[in-house]
Amino acid sequence: MVYQVAKTVNIPILGLGGIVTAQDAIEYMLAGARAISIGTGNFIAPDTAIKVVEGIEDYMKQYKIEDINEIVGTVQMN
Ligand SMILES: Cc1cc2nc3c(=O)[nH]c(=O)nc-3n(C[C@H](O)[C@H](O)[C@H](O)COP(=O)(O)O)c2cc1C
Repeated sequence: MVYQVAKTVNIPILGLGGIVTAQDAIEYMLAGARAISIGTGNFIAPDTAIKVVEGIEDYMKQYKIEDINEIVGTVQMN
C-alpha cells in the first residue's frame, strides 16, 4: 500500500503496521515511506525503537548509505 500511495501522491508518507525490526522499517522505506512508526512493537519489547534505529545504522554502514533518504522509494515493481 505504501508503494501504491508513494507512486500516486507527492507528499511524505509515514509507514506503519507490524514494524518490529530494522528490516521491516527498511522495507517500508524502500517502498516509499519517508519515515516509519512503531506502535505495538513497543509493548512487546520496550527497546524495539532503539534496536530498529541501530539496525538501520548498521544497514547504512553495510551499504555505504550516507543519507537514509537515498533509499526511499527505490524499489521497483512491474
Ligand atoms: C496503544 C495504541 C493505541 C492506538 N490508538 C489509536 C487510535 O486512537 N486511533 C487510531 O487510528 N489508531 C490507533 N492505534 C493504531 C496505530 O495508529 C497503528 O495503526 C497501529 O498500531 C499499527 O502499527 P503497529 O503494528 O506498529 O502497532 C493505536 C495503536 C496502539 C498500539
